[in-house]
Amino acid sequence: MNKILVTGASGQVGVELAQALRDKYGAGNVIATGYNSRPASEVAQNYPYCRLDVRDAPALNQIVEHYQCDTIFHLASLLSVVAETKPLEAWDINMNGLINVLETARTHNCAVFFPSSIGAFGPETPSFNTPQDTIQRPKSLYGITKVSGELLCDYYFHHYGVDTRGLRYPGLISNKALPGGGTTDYAVDIFYAAVKNRHYDCFLRADTQLDMMYMPDAVTAAITLMEVDSAKLKHRNAFNITAMSFTPEQLTAEIQKYLSDFTVSYRIDPVRQAIADSWPRHMDDSAARAEWGWEAKYDMATMVKDMLEQITVKLNKKLR
Ligand code: SER
Repeated sequence: MNKILVTGASGQVGVELAQALRDKYGAGNVIATGYNSRPASEVAQNYPYCRLDVRDAPALNQIVEHYQCDTIFHLASLLSVVAETKPLEAWDINMNGLINVLETARTHNCAVFFPSSIGAFGPETPSFNTPQDTIQRPKSLYGITKVSGELLCDYYFHHYGVDTRGLRYPGLISNKALPGGGTTDYAVDIFYAAVKNRHYDCFLRADTQLDMMYMPDAVTAAITLMEVDSAKLKHRNAFNITAMSFTPEQLTAEIQKYLSDFTVSYRIDPVRQAIADSWPRHMDDSAARAEWGWEAKYDMATMVKDMLEQITVKLNKKLR
């Protein structure tokens, strides 16, 4: 990787991944792009930044050509809850955005990172120790675009030799940019509510167990996968990875170790609950461990400690 393009660079993953790439590969070598002309975060100050709608293939080509990019981290997409409210737009952004990236990569000889998700699984998938290769019949539009994306990335590798690689992320917990409308967002929102109000109204049932990961591990995973010798990869795209697996009730108990007066009530959102109920509770990530040495640093306890510290500072509050 020498010149790296990041789509969706103002998003929850993009902000931190772009910063990590900049630290490692040099600020001038990471071209951040996003749908907004003026990103709210520090992205625009620290990096070359271009406004890009990923559905605009000529604009994407122009940026790749101008900066002579050799790698694309394609993060731009609509998340699960937003996708259910505007399915046609989600299909357009998630699928046409990806095919534009893959075509640009094919014609300009770029490697591509594509994040899939636990959303690529469905109710018929085994939910415990979800195998790397298993039944995938997602019921959400988001999940359908993720499975299709996994298959398209495989297709571009097998037919054109494009160096596509990817992961199935679990719910991602972070403290820089907020997630943009996903089913697992409760695991981020809960920290802001705990620090600000000592109370949170949770939209998932107390016993809804889902795979999760802290953002520093998610960023390391993406970079490590793109750096590894490609001869080691058997799966290439859509590696299961996980770091922890918990319910809202268990997360609440961990937060209460620091904020004993924190309370949670449950106001279930049927749409998000149905999506969550169809996703894995714990994925088997042994293929990622064996093929490229995946290992998470953060578990629930260390993630909660760090999240509370960071958000307390961010909101200028006190923990006790
Ligand atoms: N965090 C995503 C969502 O909830 C899953 O990939 O939509």
